[in-house]
Amino acid sequence: MKLLRTRADLSDWQSARAGIPRVLVPTMGALHRGHTSLFDQARNEAGKDGDVIATIFVNPVQFAPHEDFDAYPRPLEADLEKCEARGVSAVFAPDVSEVYAADRSIMVSESRLSTALCGASRPGHFDGVCTVVAKLFNLTRPDVAIFGEKDYQQLALIRRLVRDLDFPVRILAGPTVRDDDGLALSSRNTYLSPGQRAEAPILARSLREVAAGIASGAVGSPSEARQEFLDRFAAASLARLDYFEIVDAGTLEPLGSFSGRVPRLIAAAFFGKTRLIDNVGLPHD
Ligand code: PAJ
Repeated sequence: MKLLRTRADLSDWQSARAGIPRVLVPTMGALHRGHTSLFDQARNEAGKDGDVIATIFVNPVQFAPHEDFDAYPRPLEADLEKCEARGVSAVFAPDVSEVYAADRSIMVSESRLSTALCGASRPGHFDGVCTVVAKLFNLTRPDVAIFGEKDYQQLALIRRLVRDLDFPVRILAGPTVRDDDGLALSSRNTYLSPGQRAEAPILARSLREVAAGIASGAVGSPSEARQEFLDRFAAASLARLDYFEIVDAGTLEPLGSFSGRVPRLIAAAFFGKTRLIDNVGLPHD
């Protein structure tokens, strides 16, 4: 496995690997089984002779000033071991100054999918994501890029970024990897106190139970589903709900009814200062 720290390293590696199919998995590191499942999917997609490139880059422009950019975990050695163990061909792990010019003045901005849900509590966050992902596409020039359904709004935005700006890359989604108790794996789970960690699976459980109710017909409308979710989530004494929405799975528009639409249930909640997100589709959709 090659470790590429600079643009020059990356471009040398690309010259040597010209013509070989390339699958990209962008990450911010602090890798867990959610990330490594994407590496496995990428290897599967690339085939044994193809290349899987992972990027490890904590992107400053997607963090607000009060957020955890400085505190975000950066266990690079352990991350590289995990990449190597999963058959990643190369890791691009640049410094911030390698990615952004000090006087950078252009951002990629999205105006429809990025304002609601997580975008409402994190203004500017998704412009930061779109900007860095556009740059990573241009730098690494992959045929395919894989993103997790765990960050469902991010995935929808990246599909839109590719469509609207004609990036020649195919986007694939990886299913959410969870702990045994249902909590979606996240690098931020390590911030939870033992009490918060014990309570956190209520987010996934409430989403799953409401989705099952919709699928069985017991829950007939989005407004009923909302009430069901609130009733269940009220048992979480350490959490504060940020949002719960039932949206169209493709456009992220809030649904007024279920007819003819594929619903996605999506929620975020604070456990202390830690904000957790999760989402589910209907069972078997
Ligand atoms: P990060 O949070 O490190 O996530 C990297 C990728 O792993 C994303 O596509 C995310 O959806 C996926 N992922 C995270 N937890 C997962 C889980 N439990 N199951 C499956 N996939 C999971 O998302 C980012 O980084 C950044 O915003 C990035 C796209 C790299 C741009 O900076």
